[in-house]
Amino acid sequence: MAAELSPIDKAKFVAARRAVDFVEDGMRLGLGTGSTAAWMVRCLGERVREEGLKITGVPTSSRTAELARQCGITVLGLDEAKWLDLTIDGADEFDANLNLIKGGGGALLQEKIVATASDRMIVIADVAKEVAQLGAFPLPVEVVPFGWQTSKALIEETLVGLDVLGREASLRMNGEAPFVTDEGNYIVDLHLQRIGNARQLALVLNQIPGVVENGLFIDICDVVVIGHGDGKVEL
Ligand code: 5RP
Repeated sequence: MAAELSPIDKAKFVAARRAVDFVEDGMRLGLGTGSTAAWMVRCLGERVREEGLKITGVPTSSRTAELARQCGITVLGLDEAKWLDLTIDGADEFDANLNLIKGGGGALLQEKIVATASDRMIVIADVAKEVAQLGAFPLPVEVVPFGWQTSKALIEETLVGLDVLGREASLRMNGEAPFVTDEGNYIVDLHLQRIGNARQLALVLNQIPGVVENGLFIDICDVVVIGHGDGKVEL
């Protein structure tokens, strides 16, 4: 599976493959979204085929649902599965406290709901995602389309009183049109550069009318599996 991979893809692959070792027969799993999570779904599919592993997966996006089905994984909705043993997902950034920025792929809402409904969350990431302080990666905020410009203005106003370096906010685009999430919402990306108090920011953003969720995952992740380009893995 890992033949001919670039160092970055190899790092993602080895992290994903190692995380799949934590999966046991009968588990209900949250399946993350993104290129690293896609490796995890393929590795899981391999265990399903080769070992007859019996698992059910709750995908965090339509993309992941499609891939999981292609890989022979039984797919359920969260309300059918009710509670999950483990979620495995990627991240855009993680810090030493295992707090994360997620949502680069636009699936943060389902990802946060699914991870929170799990006994454990394992993040799989290449080593470049490790940061001393969150914020270099633009923070995604999911907003409802109705009045999104007002919500964006309120977000910008709110940032003035907070411990962040940059305050620029931009609507995520998909070509000429706004990017639309699986839930039919828009994403405003916040270019903060440095987030001084991620816990406070996460709480404050979710108080703004029109904001559905933000990409800060605070106290949700239990373990980060870090992959390196030379194939080394750290936990
Ligand atoms: C999607 C996510 C992804 O997990 C995150 O963007 C990392 O993606 P990749 O594994 O492709 O680097 O949060 O909403």
